[in-house]
Amino acid sequence: MEEKIAKIKENLKQELKKDLKEADILNIKSMYVGKKSEIQELLASLKDMSVEDKRKYGSLINSTKKELEELINKKLEDMENKLDISFDDTVDYEVKTGSLHPVTIVAKEVTDILKRMGFTVVSGPEMETEYYNFEALNIPKDHPARDMQDTYYLDNGMLLRTQTSDNQIHAMEKYGAPLRICAPGRTFRNEDLDANHENTFFQIEGMVIDKGVSTPNLMYVMECVLSEVFKTDVKVRLRPGFFPFTEPSYEMDISCVMCGGKGCPTCKNEGWIELIGCGMVHPNVLRAGGIDPDVYTGFAFGIGLTRLAMMKYKINDIRYLNSGDIRYLKEFKI
Ligand code: DAH
Repeated sequence: MEEKIAKIKENLKQELKKDLKEADILNIKSMYVGKKSEIQELLASLKDMSVEDKRKYGSLINSTKKELEELINKKLEDMENKLDISFDDTVDYEVKTGSLHPVTIVAKEVTDILKRMGFTVVSGPEMETEYYNFEALNIPKDHPARDMQDTYYLDNGMLLRTQTSDNQIHAMEKYGAPLRICAPGRTFRNEDLDANHENTFFQIEGMVIDKGVSTPNLMYVMECVLSEVFKTDVKVRLRPGFFPFTEPSYEMDISCVMCGGKGCPTCKNEGWIELIGCGMVHPNVLRAGGIDPDVYTGFAFGIGLTRLAMMKYKINDIRYLNSGDIRYLKEFKI
């Protein structure tokens, strides 16, 4: 026993003589005094020893373990002392933490709510093909709906997507039916810029496909999401709309949260703000995604996340959002 213990001690001393990094010393520590170390095994073996041996070896093993620990800790301490940490008090050490962008905040809120309702969050490419942005969504080349979504066409024949609706096709192709996805993302259009129009803005797309899905399901989901985002019972109203990829299509308005519905410049005195395009997925779109419209139905929606952030934080000019002005962004620290 004495020999064994002496050997352990000697081995450790040899190990500690080497040129070691902190991680090496910590490894050595676990090897020599950790749960699976030899000394620990010796300690555990005490219980099977005779009373006499216990008395003889108990204190020897314990004191050796202590000694080993001290040797290792000393090596660690020496190492820390060697590190040259000099403190430069001429530097301004004020901690400047960043903050989330208001659009990021609402995007996270909406996806969190949808996730709780069983939606999977997906994301598609910002540089997109005409097929996914338009054709598969039932908007052929000569369709007038393309006029409203003029965009930036790239030299490689692709375009900057005008809507997150491209995710509908990607998701159907990838997952098939039944399906429940949402897809927040950046979208682009060739716009004349003013307080309400930007060439770069954010949307979130939603799509649910299953047997027997109908418009009331869509309304329920939207009401739940918006009421939670605005932390109040938000009123919604449905008007007939037109989108080539839904039939029927709706424009969903929400009561203006700036004025509570009384009428103000933001809502152009109407009391309502157009926020969501939605509808029942057109059979051609289901087919383009490889889903049989005789078996499945679905609803889809696109919420303007940029507009949602503007309403939630009472921002009256969309151009602030992409300005990168830090003084402005830090207002939204949460
Ligand atoms: N993509 C449409 C837009 O940007 C919004 C939209 C309308 C999305 C109807 C949908 C939908 O999913 O069903 O104007």
